[in-house]
Amino acid sequence: MKILAGSANPKLAASIAKRLDTPVADCLVKRFADSEVRVEIKENVRGEDVFVIQSTSEPANDHLMELLIMIDALSRASASRITAVIPYFGYARQDRKVGPRTPISAKLVANLITTAGADRVLTVDLHAGQVQGFFDIPTDNLYAVKEMEAHIRETYRGDIGKLCVVSPDVGGVVRARALSKRLDNADLAIVDKRRPEPGKAEVMNIIGEVEGKHCVLFDDIVDSGGTLVQAADALKAQGAASAAAYVSHAVLSGEAVERIAKSDNLTRLVVTDSIGNEANRDGVDKIETISIDRLLAEAIRRIANEESVSSLFD
Ligand code: R5P
Repeated sequence: MKILAGSANPKLAASIAKRLDTPVADCLVKRFADSEVRVEIKENVRGEDVFVIQSTSEPANDHLMELLIMIDALSRASASRITAVIPYFGYARQDRKVGPRTPISAKLVANLITTAGADRVLTVDLHAGQVQGFFDIPTDNLYAVKEMEAHIRETYRGDIGKLCVVSPDVGGVVRARALSKRLDNADLAIVDKRRPEPGKAEVMNIIGEVEGKHCVLFDDIVDSGGTLVQAADALKAQGAASAAAYVSHAVLSGEAVERIAKSDNLTRLVVTDSIGNEANRDGVDKIETISIDRLLAEAIRRIANEESVSSLFD
């Protein structure tokens, strides 16, 4: 097996490789003077089972091009199987036509990855499960819910019975219900959210009983942070004892970190390291990062050994 890493998340790639007791293969990923991506794999990969670790996070287009070009290089170097390990799959929110003459970018990106030469995809907490169907190659979508559950159990020791899992929008109810089941069937509430325009969220109502509860917002992406901050305000206004958030992908664009740090009602945000931008929130104690290195390493090990990956979800 060979592990390769693009420039999006070298720290996570190194932790995964360490867990697999395999070095990250020597691969040059740089730019030509005109900014085009330059890739050169420095070791033999002929006949190897190769895993390329690269999130398509900001700068999304550069990271996506790196991934595509690395896959192309591997395929031309006769790797026997290429798995694109994409801890954060960007463009996933553009998964349907939202109006006339708009694209389905998630499908286009899936096509690009397949055309580049990937044989499989391994990702974590896709924005919508059905995005798996955009790929015509096997796609494993892992869930970071076990890691989140462990952190919640540790944080709310003794108060598990007072938890309420909150989905920040109607689309996230299945995800929230899965967490609530793991937390001894904790109560469930839903935020009725509207998006007047991209990047702007408006919380309208809370559906469910949250009075006196420790509310845990559970989402796949925190981008501007608007959804979480407004949802925490609305939950507190409805009498919640506290509001924290657990989110898989810390996109945290623009003023998000500042917005979250300043929020009076959102007391904690726990994210994973699927996106390598921890430096952006250095010194912000309210935001904690937990690693998904073990989850990804175990899935890679199982894929390499042709073992079941779905049993990881139990
Ligand atoms: C939307 O459907 C996602 O699940 C997130 O709720 C959304 O991307 C969060 O965006 P923001 O942090 O900008 O409100």
